[in-house]
Amino acid sequence: MIRVWDPLVRGSHWALAASFAVAWLTSKNWEGLHAASGYVAGGLVALRVVWGFLGPRYARFTQFVRSPGTVIDYLRAIKDGSESRYIGHNPAGGAMIVVLLAAMAATAVSGWLLTTDAFWGSTVMQHGHSLLAHGVLALVVAHLVGVVLASLRHRENLVRAMVVGVKRPSEPGDVA
Ligand code: HEM
Ligand code: HEM
Repeated sequence: MIRVWDPLVRGSHWALAASFAVAWLTSKNWEGLHAASGYVAGGLVALRVVWGFLGPRYARFTQFVRSPGTVIDYLRAIKDGSESRYIGHNPAGGAMIVVLLAAMAATAVSGWLLTTDAFWGSTVMQHGHSLLAHGVLALVVAHLVGVVLASLRHRENLVRAMVVGVKRPSEPGDVA
């Protein structure tokens, strides 16, 4: 087996998923915990972005963020069942990660804005914040579909890899 996901990538991933879940579940009636978990989510996104420049190979944005053309070609390859296995994030996963991190950050920032004098009680900002949070939820659902699909297609448990950090080594035809 080869090491792919470093401890910070794994830890920040599961902490981000957990903080989103807590923020979601507390949004209607647990304001203090809601704000705290939302700020934790925002902080984890910031940490992950910094790590995307400073972290080891498979944590870096330059390793997994590809051009739109490459992402489209990869999605086409999924359609005819010919997509390659990637040791790091695949092109569609890489695009999803960028969108997820941006949407999560925007949700946290809009939540914080609701506490400022400028936007306190602003229904526009309340709706914007709620819309962003629902958008993140929809993205997470698509993210999970992608994880299950890639796991089945390449016969490997990607969730387990995100927990323990290791994957089966690269084989001919894989993208290392
Ligand atoms: C709010 C919920 C979630 C968010 C915001 C989220 C976000 C992300 C992000 C940003 C990454 C990139 C990891 C990195 O390089 O740092 C990622 C990867 C991944 N996530 Fe999630 N995630 C969520 C929930 C989940 C859940 C519930 C599972 C599985 C049960 C899951 C499974 C995975 C896996 C397997 C990968 C690695 C995909 C690959 O092999 O390329 N995620 N997720
Ligand atoms: C990124 C994580 C966050 C998520 C997923 C999230 C999600 C939500 C959701 C779903 C609602 C309910 C909206 C509705 O009733 O339809 C809500 C409301 C609210 N959130 Fe967040 N939120 C997050 C972060 C924050 C942060 C950091 C703050 C700032 C302290 C915050 C402050 C608020 C406030 C004040 C409301 C009530 C708005 C109202 O009265 O309608 N949120 N949030």
